[in-house]
Amino acid sequence: NGKLNVAIDGPAGAGKSTVARRVASELSYIYVDTGAMYRAVTYYMLRHEIEPEDVDSVLKHLRELSIELVPDANGQKVLLNGEDVSGPIRSREVTGIVSLYSQIEDLRAHLVELQRVMALRKGVVMDGRDIGTTVLPDAEVKIFMTASVKERALRRFNELEKTDDLTLEQLESDIAARDKLDQEREISPLRQADDAIVLDTTSMSIDEVVEHIVSRCYEVG
Ligand code: C5P
Repeated sequence: NGKLNVAIDGPAGAGKSTVARRVASELSYIYVDTGAMYRAVTYYMLRHEIEPEDVDSVLKHLRELSIELVPDANGQKVLLNGEDVSGPIRSREVTGIVSLYSQIEDLRAHLVELQRVMALRKGVVMDGRDIGTTVLPDAEVKIFMTASVKERALRRFNELEKTDDLTLEQLESDIAARDKLDQEREISPLRQADDAIVLDTTSMSIDEVVEHIVSRCYEVG
């Protein structure tokens, strides 16, 4: 059908989801936010008071849980056993601990399998940490998006509601801590694929990044 798969990886707050959503919309592809899947699992485990160290319990509960990504006006809605959890999965509580759950090997295997099924028919833009390396090693276009920690914290800061009393310094250290866990974990750590195009977006606009990726897709496809 002439469609490609596009893998977009990179550290927290690099703008992957904004860019991936826009690329998908320009190409009429499906956007898959894999971070939202790890966040939904984390939200569920927190709600049931299952600690990330209790691997057996995590895996047992994983079997009871269904995650759906449903397209909507804002890009995508996340349904956990049918309930819309798109808001709560972005809380600081979930963000602060998701990297501990996402270290669990069998949990990853389960989500990776779901993600591969979503991409079977191609025409998918998938963002995450291990898409180009593990989930879709055959993706026709692989992008590794980065930006300095300062710039990424600043972008997050500018998106925050005035009621959140997080400082720029807190955001910066939260992001750095999460990157460290994601990079140093044993199972498919955050790493650029050998055949990925690296885009340092520190001084690029969203439009520029989107255009770069879309034109790469036209070159390949
Ligand atoms: O992309 P986002 O910041 O929403 O991802 C949340 C967390 O989910 C990451 O910090 C990482 O621990 C985990 N994740 C992952 N593999 C992916 C996507 C996300 O381990 N493909």
